[in-house]
Amino acid sequence: MKTPLPLYHIIYHSLASGTGMTPAALTDLLRQARTYNQTHRLTGLLLYAADTQEFVQVLEGPQHEVQSLYAKIARDPRHKHVFVLHEGQEEARMFPDWRMGFAPAAAHDLHSVTGYLPLVSEPAHLRPPGLAVHAPAQLRRFLGDFARPLATDE
Ligand SMILES: Cc1cc2nc3c(=O)[nH]c(=O)nc-3n(C[C@H](O)[C@H](O)[C@H](O)COP(=O)(O)O)c2cc1C
Repeated sequence: MKTPLPLYHIIYHSLASGTGMTPAALTDLLRQARTYNQTHRLTGLLLYAADTQEFVQVLEGPQHEVQSLYAKIARDPRHKHVFVLHEGQEEARMFPDWRMGFAPAAAHDLHSVTGYLPLVSEPAHLRPPGLAVHAPAQLRRFLGDFARPLATDE
């Protein structure tokens, strides 16, 4: 998908609400997301770790589109503790062919790509993600390398 600059991306982490996302709820979310994203020139990747109910999502596209979608996502009651790991301009899309790729992930894989540092004094469901130990470019590359063979957009 070709988009004139400035291209922008936001990578965030969050926790699913309640008892987590069922496969059917994830399918509904992705169907809705892909229709919207295609119309708004947005692409990206959604990772979900069912064992810890964690999401990591990469949103990329025109800056105003990314920011206005993120504002909606951040107040979506299906998840909580939405925390931006990185955002900024980029020269090229990481996921140009995905209206929203999806990959299931194990929590420890997610944490290794996001540089998660657990704050042990907090109960697991209240822990914000730790500071990303990877530089942004490295974080984005790790996410791509980790997810590309696993993710689908269908
Ligand atoms: C983890 C998560 C990821 C989401 N990703 C997207 C997305 O990529 N695109 C999208 O249009 N909606 C996405 N949504 C849904 C939005 O939060 C929101 O429901 C949708 O934009 C419709 O908002 P509206 O009813 O205010 O128009 C996501 C929701 C969650 C919980």
